[in-house]
Amino acid sequence: MTKSDWDYRGLAAECYDLWFGDEPFWDQAFFHGRIRQNGGVALEIACGTGRLLVPFLRDGLAVEGVDASEEMLAICRTKAAHLGVSPTLYQQLMQDLDLAPRYRTIFIPACSFQILAERDEAFETLRRCYRHLEPEGELLITLSVPWQDFGVERQWRLRRSGVRPSDGAAILIHEATVSDRIEQVQHIRMRYEVFQEGLLVQTQLRTHRLRWYHKHEFAMMLESVGFREVEMQCGYTDSSGTNPEAELIFIAKR
Ligand SMILES: C[S@@+](CC[C@H](N)C(=O)[O-])C[C@H]1O[C@@H](n2cnc3c(N)ncnc32)[C@H](O)[C@@H]1O
Repeated sequence: MTKSDWDYRGLAAECYDLWFGDEPFWDQAFFHGRIRQNGGVALEIACGTGRLLVPFLRDGLAVEGVDASEEMLAICRTKAAHLGVSPTLYQQLMQDLDLAPRYRTIFIPACSFQILAERDEAFETLRRCYRHLEPEGELLITLSVPWQDFGVERQWRLRRSGVRPSDGAAILIHEATVSDRIEQVQHIRMRYEVFQEGLLVQTQLRTHRLRWYHKHEFAMMLESVGFREVEMQCGYTDSSGTNPEAELIFIAKR
């Protein structure tokens, strides 16, 4: 099985939380509401630094997490300890997901499912999600189509910027993309740069791929591995479902 090329190490892990600001996050109320409504224990796949998982534990929800990156999980544990909670975390690839518990809710926010560039990995992950849900359990996956990138292929553009609290260094991320619209795979280069007192002191280049899906295609994928009552909504606030730039939120039952 091909392994993920989205490794969150070094600057990518260290800086991750810089980009999101403070609570409430754009998707927090939605996932909080679904997990509370479903009851039982939830699993966040690709939980990273615990952007959602840590506040959910603080707020009394029962949520466990799984992620590929040891460094992201270490940050998650530290953040949780500051809030006096101790998360149950597993280090696994989602395409290899193999845990003993069964969950009422499994959620994959922030479009992390699209990290799986190979179609067989994507199907295997959906099959494993199905197996890890209790009967009637709910799967929540968010996806997006990189529409805005199609017009600016092969151009370096500023993707994110922030100031590292530990030393005041300015961190910039530039991104250049090329999209294979037949295969629905985006090839991405990300250039991380750290500036101290105006001088470039560190740089890191990451290359990776991202696969995108469309509404009916993904609904069929979910149904083909056994999910039922598949629904989709566009974005967290626009209930009309007509904003194609918004995250596509898939909701499916085991
Ligand atoms: C965009 S971050 C999302 C983190 C968190 N869910 C959030 O919403 O802030 C993507 C995460 O996916 C993890 N990841 C990458 N490939 C993975 C894989 N194949 N299986 C599990 N996690 C993976 C990375 O380590 C990273 O923490």
